[in-house]
Amino acid sequence: MNKYGLFLTLEGVDGAGKSTHLSYIQECLEAHQLSVCVTREPGGTELGETLRELLLHHSMTLETECLLMFAARHEHIQKVILPALRNGQWVLCDRFTDASFAYQGEGRGLGAERVSVLEQWVHPGFQPDKTWLFDVPLEIARQRMTRTRVLDRFEQQDVNFFLRTQQGYYDRVHQDPDRFFMVDASRSIEEIRQQLQVDVKQLVQQWQQSTS
Ligand code: ADP
Ligand code: TYD
Repeated sequence: MNKYGLFLTLEGVDGAGKSTHLSYIQECLEAHQLSVCVTREPGGTELGETLRELLLHHSMTLETECLLMFAARHEHIQKVILPALRNGQWVLCDRFTDASFAYQGEGRGLGAERVSVLEQWVHPGFQPDKTWLFDVPLEIARQRMTRTRVLDRFEQQDVNFFLRTQQGYYDRVHQDPDRFFMVDASRSIEEIRQQLQVDVKQLVQQWQQSTS
């Protein structure tokens, strides 16, 4: 798959602070005169947002849950992500396939092999160029979540689910360390912003060198 802008994703357990920092990363990219397409999973297309509602609020088997995540993802890649990249935009996506490995593969216990089969089917050879993993102790993530919102089907899971999910993310980092920017998300919002600004600057410089 040819692409011209970069495909960037944000990951982490619920309450880690991804959504809080997404718009800041967008601002940093736009400050470098880049056109940015901001999107999310599950979701990002009309059908994907309908599937998101089902996934977050309806009970279903684990296999159905994983298949629907990838069905929404197929729509999203074909109708939003690839067209934006081919159009020269950078794509900034709140979660992608690392979340399926972490939540369905490890949290729910489906196993990485089965998630990998769907990954190979839906987007062979296509990965985010860079991923920020917001890493935070689970007690802090839970406090932040419960303080501010009504919890969905995933957020209502117990601590053991999130321990497995977090380990699933660490396994992903271990397999491809160069793809990840690790963010110690227990720090203040201001400190995290400082890191993100530096990360974006580095990414843009590398991209400019590789395209000049
Ligand atoms: P996520 O998208 O990862 O689930 P959010 O960005 O929605 O997490 O953050 C959950 C809550 O925690 C929000 O109320 C947000 O304001 C707060 N929050 C996020 N990051 C921090 C931080 N570094 N310090 C303190 N509060 C934070
Ligand atoms: P998200 O909107 O990122 O939640 P939040 O803003 O609360 O962090 O994602 C919704 C939920 O979907 C989240 O609990 C994680 C889950 N999810 C999966 O289980 N597998 C996936 O592949 C994706 C993309 C998300």
